Amino acid sequence: MSTILEVDNIHVAYGRTKIIPGLSFKVEEGQVLGVIGPNGAGKTTLMNALIGLVIPTEGKIIFDGMDITKLPPDKRCHLGLGRTYQIPRPFEGMTVYENVLVGATHGAGRTEHKARPYCTEVLKRTGLYEKRDTLAGQLTLLDRKRLEIARALGTDPKILLLDEVAAGLTDAEVHDVMDLVAELKKTGLTIIWIEHVIKTMVESTDKLLCLATGCLLRYGDPKETMNCLEVQEVYLGVDEE
Ligand SMILES: Nc1ncnc2c1ncn2[C@@H]1O[C@H](COP(=O)(O)OP(=O)(O)O)[C@@H](O)[C@H]1O
Ligand SMILES: [Mg+2]
Repeated sequence: MSTILEVDNIHVAYGRTKIIPGLSFKVEEGQVLGVIGPNGAGKTTLMNALIGLVIPTEGKIIFDGMDITKLPPDKRCHLGLGRTYQIPRPFEGMTVYENVLVGATHGAGRTEHKARPYCTEVLKRTGLYEKRDTLAGQLTLLDRKRLEIARALGTDPKILLLDEVAAGLTDAEVHDVMDLVAELKKTGLTIIWIEHVIKTMVESTDKLLCLATGCLLRYGDPKETMNCLEVQEVYLGVDEE
C-alpha cells in the first residue's frame, strides 16, 4: 500500500487566530480515514487546508507525490481532491443530473459529451439515477447528502473528503451512507471522512484520527482510538452538531 496523502507539520490560521498549530499524518491509498473531534477542534479547517480554501502558514501537503501546499482549489480539484460540504450546497434550481454534470465538466475539466456517461455512472453508484430529473431543492435530506457525494464524485477524485455527511440522518439512513462509502471504497477510492456519528467512525474506517484544538490527540486503529481515555475525555459533554 502506498501513501497518497502526506500532511507534514501544517500550521493553519484564520487571520491571527491559530487553529491548527502543527499537524502531521499520512493517508494510505484505498483506505478510509475517519476524523473525529469535538466541535471547534479544527476538522473543517483541516479539510479547507486540504482542498486549498486556506493555505497553511507552515508545513507541507503532499498529494500523490506532488507538493500541493500552495495550489488553489481548482488545481487541486483537477488533480483529484473532491469534497462535500457540511451543509449541502446543491444548485437548488437545477436537476440532480445537472448538478453532477457541473462537477464533471467544470470540476474535472471534461467536455459535456465526455462527461455525460460518467455522470450516469455516478448517479447509479450513488442511488440517484431514478431521481436524475428531480430538482435538487426537492430532495429529501438523505438524497441531498447522496447528491453532495455525487457532485464530488463528478469531479473524478482520487481522494474524496466527506464532511459530516451522516449528520441529521436517521439510523437507517446512516447505514445507507455507510453502505455507499463501502461501495466507493471497493472502487479503490481513498476517503477522508469527518463525522460525529461514532458508529460510522468505528465501523466504516481503516484508521481513525482524533483532533482536539487543532492537534492530533490520537491516530490509529478505529476501535483503539475510540476507546482511548484521552479521546473519551474530549467527547464528554460534546454537543452534537
Ligand atoms: N472563517 C473563519 N474565520 C475565523 N475563525 C474560524 C473560521 N472558520 C472556523 N473558525 C474557527 O476555527 C475553529 C475550528 O473550526 P472548525 O474547523 O469549523 O471546527 P470543526 O469542524 O472541528 O467543528 C473554531 O474555533 C471556529 O470558530
Ligand atoms: Mg466542521
